[in-house]
Amino acid sequence: MPLVRASAAPNLALSKYWGKRPGGAANLPVADSLSVTLNAFRTTVELRAARQDLILWAPAAGGPTAPLPDRLLPPYTRVLAAARRDWDLPPGLEATFLPTLEPAQGLAGSAAAFAAFAAALTILGGRSLSHPEDLRRASILARLGSGSACRSLHGGFVRWQRGELSDGSDSFAIPLPPVLPDLALLVVLLAPGRKATSSTEGMLRSAATSRLFPWWIDRCNQDCDAIQAALQANDFATLGHHAEANALALHAVCLASTPPLLYATPDTLRVFQLAADLRAQGLPVYVTLDAGPNPVLLHLPPARARLHSELGALFPQAPLLDLWPGDGARHEPR
Ligand code: PMV
Repeated sequence: MPLVRASAAPNLALSKYWGKRPGGAANLPVADSLSVTLNAFRTTVELRAARQDLILWAPAAGGPTAPLPDRLLPPYTRVLAAARRDWDLPPGLEATFLPTLEPAQGLAGSAAAFAAFAAALTILGGRSLSHPEDLRRASILARLGSGSACRSLHGGFVRWQRGELSDGSDSFAIPLPPVLPDLALLVVLLAPGRKATSSTEGMLRSAATSRLFPWWIDRCNQDCDAIQAALQANDFATLGHHAEANALALHAVCLASTPPLLYATPDTLRVFQLAADLRAQGLPVYVTLDAGPNPVLLHLPPARARLHSELGALFPQAPLLDLWPGDGARHEPR
């Protein structure tokens, strides 16, 4: 029986994290970001006592777990080492990751994994996910694995405040009040598969070479404020406008990098055009896009049927995934 089980879900940024402060390994961002945690694709982590630390991974389809390859280990050992500095944990731990999503589907499965891992270590350290101070610490731990993972500790809408301190102790995610409960997200899986350039590599390249990068930093802080204000006002259209503009700005920064980072495909751009056409007809539909080709349509339930029929006609082969805001990290029964 595991010592602890915990789970967490991926999150989708409405104002994106793209750029690390110099120094690298702690994933300290250049700007705030704001996300919504998803209701699906949770990853569960089980922790067991072991002779030595071991990270195991199961395929999303179930089946036998296998050790994570050495090249993927550093962020996991970073999280574990930081947790050991804080808390009295067993000297050897076996962590088994049970994802429900293939990492290759590009839906931020790593955020779910690191958030679940940080949550499990927090519980094993004798802390509770219902205490804000412990959740803050867990968010910092998750950030050390993958920046965006710090947002998945919380459910619903979440803001990651960049912080100022070089030790990162003020760079963590904060939950925002629950609003817009009927926000719906439709993922168009145009091209499942790993992105050509990892986000870490892409961020470094953009910061080093994109003339738009200083503009991007200001833009993100403004978009976060505007989206947070739109949430407070229950104003979906303003939220959607800023989320779409932020995603397009991210891709402008990427295109202006050297060599250019081209994540969108012609089909991705057709989805942006579809959303613009539907808005012209009075349907509030907006698009966001991470560092990959698969767009996500932000909408309210009355638009769902129309979106499905338009997208089904445009891309008959592409799976369409209906998602909603979901819960943060959870302590699961053993
Ligand atoms: O946390 P990372 O290193 O996987 O970076 C995530 C980057 C984006 O998904 C493009 C944006 C975001 O804020 O999630």
